Amino acid sequence: MTPDELRKEILDKVSQYYQLSFANRKKGFIHCSGKDFDAEELKYGVEAILDGWWTDGRFADRFIEEFQKVIPAKYIILVNSGSSANLLALFSLTSHLIPEERRLQPGDEVMTLAAGFPTTVNPIILAQCIPVFLDIEMDTLNIDVTQLEQALSPKTKAVFIAHTLGNPFPADKVRAFCTMHNLWLIEDCCDALGAAYQDKPVGTFGDIATFSFYPAHQVTMGEGGAVITNDDSLDKIAKSLRDWGRDCWCKTGKDNTCGMRFAHQQGDLPFGYDHKYIFSHLGFNLKLTDMQAAIGYAQIQKLPLFLQKRREHFQQLAAFFSDYMNYFSFPKANGSPSWFGFTLTIKPGCPFTRNEIIGYLQAHGIGTRLLFGGNLTRQPYFKNQNIAYRSFPLPNTDYVMDNSFWVGVQPNLTDGDMAKIIEVFIGFLHLYQKISKKENDL
Ligand SMILES: Cc1ncc(COP(=O)(O)O)c(C=O)c1O
Repeated sequence: MTPDELRKEILDKVSQYYQLSFANRKKGFIHCSGKDFDAEELKYGVEAILDGWWTDGRFADRFIEEFQKVIPAKYIILVNSGSSANLLALFSLTSHLIPEERRLQPGDEVMTLAAGFPTTVNPIILAQCIPVFLDIEMDTLNIDVTQLEQALSPKTKAVFIAHTLGNPFPADKVRAFCTMHNLWLIEDCCDALGAAYQDKPVGTFGDIATFSFYPAHQVTMGEGGAVITNDDSLDKIAKSLRDWGRDCWCKTGKDNTCGMRFAHQQGDLPFGYDHKYIFSHLGFNLKLTDMQAAIGYAQIQKLPLFLQKRREHFQQLAAFFSDYMNYFSFPKANGSPSWFGFTLTIKPGCPFTRNEIIGYLQAHGIGTRLLFGGNLTRQPYFKNQNIAYRSFPLPNTDYVMDNSFWVGVQPNLTDGDMAKIIEVFIGFLHLYQKISKKENDL
């Protein structure tokens, strides 16, 4: 048997394995997020192992090609998580290659949101810059753009915000504000792959944008992420920072792309010092493996189907909850969202609390999540690390921290799962209405 024949046999067995182990899986608990996959993900993942290459390789190239069909960015820099993508995006703006007046330096301010995920904000703090927190609008849970002008100071250098739970922020307005004041815009699209605003994909408004491929997101690699940009210089900087800070820009496994590997003269280094070992940035290693990229390659081809399912599930829940607007609000679409979840906010004066409803849902097999860290400035790490920041009053952020939660819309939910989610909500609301009626009758 040749290696190719054996490989084919292994892959056929992997398909059989998928059929036996996963194809007819029954869900018990309905989680609020989760991946959807078939035999392709397992086969490509196994192929990447059988290739014996393992670090960023042919599957990473294929993934990038597919990704570029979704978002036409000039450069797509793959990394090992969305948090790494955020770290890389922000630190790229600190490079010595950026002109001093635009370079992020300690003490500079970066506008962001407190309502969100910590690793959107943490890179700002790690770069010794000052996060400036703006509030959100209640009807989209996105940045309140009316605060941008007021928040501006002579130290402001960038705006770094996420498209909350896949619903685009007013990207035209934020872009125009950044252009007018010569600020960088970093778009955190970790929850929003596939969303569009004014018919342009999110991620194309910023100078640089980030994505996550954690299993909760629109496509997964298990763990993974990407930074995208159209800027030649930012691409070069981001790749250097991702790859240990090296000056060399050869792809993994390639040598001498510059044609002068042993002919560089830089600083105090001996002439001809191997370019592979010249380090021009204070770097990290944030690269992904080809096994991750292989899984992602299978996933990204299914994105249109995944998005359609997410939208259908959101619509089903929206139709149901439109009869309960006295108790709840849910986000209004801004552009064309790629919904990450269905968020419910309990209205003021509602007779039950968030803890009562999420406790009931949990006990009846329905998972929920909150809007991540709520108001991040109230999280223990802000006090524990004595983090310096500037903030607007954040009444809406605080309201959401106390009153919002979300349930899943991910593509692996079946019609039966969606019916069960609605049935459990009905159960809670009826139970609640009965209790309130009894209390009124007493
Ligand atoms: C808005 C946002 N940014 C960044 C991240 C971090 O992504 P990862 O989990 O891949 O590190 C997340 C995580 O879900 C997120 O929701």
